[in-house]
Amino acid sequence: MRIAMLTGGGDCPGLNAVMRAVARKGQAVYGDDLLGFRDGWRGVLEDDAVELTIDSFRGTLPKGGTILGSSRTNPYKVDGGPERVKATLASRGVDALVAIGGEDTLGVASRLAAEGVPVVGVPKTIDNDLSATELTFGFDTAVQICVDAIDRLHTTAESHDRVMVVEVMGRHAGHIATWSAIAGGATIALIPEQPFDVDEVCDVIRKRHARGRYASIVVIAEGATPKEGSFSVASGEVDAFGHARLGGIGDALAGAIEQRTGYETRAVVLGHVQRGGTPTAFDRVLSTRFGIAAVDAIHDGDFGAMVALRAGEIVRVPLEEATTELKLVDPDLYDVAKVFFGS
Ligand code: F6P
Repeated sequence: MRIAMLTGGGDCPGLNAVMRAVARKGQAVYGDDLLGFRDGWRGVLEDDAVELTIDSFRGTLPKGGTILGSSRTNPYKVDGGPERVKATLASRGVDALVAIGGEDTLGVASRLAAEGVPVVGVPKTIDNDLSATELTFGFDTAVQICVDAIDRLHTTAESHDRVMVVEVMGRHAGHIATWSAIAGGATIALIPEQPFDVDEVCDVIRKRHARGRYASIVVIAEGATPKEGSFSVASGEVDAFGHARLGGIGDALAGAIEQRTGYETRAVVLGHVQRGGTPTAFDRVLSTRFGIAAVDAIHDGDFGAMVALRAGEIVRVPLEEATTELKLVDPDLYDVAKVFFGS
């Protein structure tokens, strides 16, 4: 078969490992030809592609990012977009397409699959917010990067008796924040699922001070919101899928804490550092398993499917399941984090 791949949306560690696995099993076991579209759906729309082989992926297993490039292009927002996608696939003789992405990229894949395009999805995002899979690759790496940063921030916060506010990504879900707070021993974690009260946060910090604990680490998800709506940091900018550009809540919170408590408070925005660099061993294995499962699904003719992790096993689920519901933080897990708040 002639199999094409693309990587769409925000990049994340493990993308190359997925494609390497597709290429390895596809070429060596099934005798497939491989093609890669550059920059996600943009490459398909504009017929910008590169021939791939097993050799294209030599040395890429530990490499972050994606050798194909990525974009947030939405073919359904472009005049005649879906028709152009189909025309490119036909002219390139593509028998099947592996779309590796998050909610947006897979949303497009799902609509195209419903229109008869032979596509299989692979769930990617550091946000881990896809309900159809227990884990997306990239999440483990992002959490590890946050925890490494928090470990370092503890020592400087303690040396200077400071409050450090650490803003992490995750869009409208608080998975990265919750996991990082538990693993990093944070004073408190603020997530989009549970709007926070700035005064309550300050009380937690004041009580620590009263006990002689002058350093605190406050983890805040970029999508967290204060209960009273007392400050807003929305830039108003949106991408082609209508998502707001987040970021900046950490600075605003640090200012509010310092103003209310008088304690020196600094903000650290981890930002895209969380998406960069080498994948953890866990993400390399998960990505590899997803890639192998995707090429197997294609050879079984199981189009319109997404590979997913459920109870430790790789399974296939309908692509539309991947995009219907956002997976939010399990309140039970947040309760685990809460036991340590203020301690
Ligand atoms: O979805 C992954 C993610 O990193 C989110 O956590 C974040 O809100 C967004 O992408 C940032 O996107 P961009 O790099 O396009 O600004």
